[in-house]
Amino acid sequence: MCEENRELTNKIVLITGGAKGIGAAICVEVLKEGAKHVRILDLDEGAGVNLENEMNKQYGTYKVKFIKCDVTNDDELFGAFEGTKQEHGYLDVVVNNAGVINENNYAAIRKMVEINYIALANGTLKAIELMDKSKGGRGGTVINMASIAGLYPICPPAFMYSSTKTAVLQFTSCIGAEPLYTNTGIRVIALCFGTTDTSIFSHVSTFGGAADKLMEEVLKNHELQRVESAALGTVEAFKKGDSASVWLIHQNKPAIDITEDREKCHQSMARLLGR
Ligand SMILES: NC(=O)c1ccc[n+]([C@@H]2O[C@H](COP(=O)([O-])OP(=O)(O)OC[C@H]3O[C@@H](n4cnc5c(N)ncnc54)[C@H](O)[C@@H]3O)[C@@H](O)[C@H]2O)c1
Repeated sequence: MCEENRELTNKIVLITGGAKGIGAAICVEVLKEGAKHVRILDLDEGAGVNLENEMNKQYGTYKVKFIKCDVTNDDELFGAFEGTKQEHGYLDVVVNNAGVINENNYAAIRKMVEINYIALANGTLKAIELMDKSKGGRGGTVINMASIAGLYPICPPAFMYSSTKTAVLQFTSCIGAEPLYTNTGIRVIALCFGTTDTSIFSHVSTFGGAADKLMEEVLKNHELQRVESAALGTVEAFKKGDSASVWLIHQNKPAIDITEDREKCHQSMARLLGR
């Protein structure tokens, strides 16, 4: 296994969907840890510019740069990744964080799959291309946002949202595994947050509204953790996580490495498949 530097000091960090919510809290936390520069990609220009101004006032000129970017637009997404590397000479950490919950109609479902899964996969592949040690890069870390919704065997009211998050877990476990990690020097890690107090739930609507009541019940029964706890857990997973590891960050508790628990769940299926 190759070993990499797991400190955030002097790192160049890129966060998608980082203008508010968990992404913005991660921006604050990595700056506290001494990151050199944080590039924020988001659709929300107002929140992004506010965060940039606030952080630069607090941590110094040009610590944070906001770029208006729709992660589902490949030209915008890849342009922002490449621009960050060109400007600084390298890129160290990519957090594929942009995500939505909206399964209200066919078009919304298609968009959600594009944001939560396709753009995250494209972001991972582009990060690998730009940071690959075997191609002159410095190696690095990709952090992919899954969810506890992707861990439940069934998650009825959010059937498409939870599917995108299960897909993120499968994708991350595959792409983070050996021999890719040793070849590229890039760790790929998945995080599963429990319900966290952000604006993501402000527009939740299930297909045709049929399961909205069930969704309300589910949300009522889940305590919301603070965004700061989600961000602290992210830094902890960054410092401790091996490639392809999966972390649970919920209930304002420290991050838990659940990689082995997931492997145990998969063992009986592996036996059936003769592996
Ligand atoms: N809040 C929770 O309870 C929770 C739980 C588990 C996982 N997550 C995941 O954590 C991540 C962050 O969620 P959050 O709760 O901070 O949500 P949020 O709504 O507060 O923030 C998401 C950000 O993504 C941005 N975004 C949405 N579509 C975009 C697009 N097409 N291009 C660029 N940016 C876009 C939004 O503008 C917003 O700033 C998501 O992937 C979410 O699924 C959240």
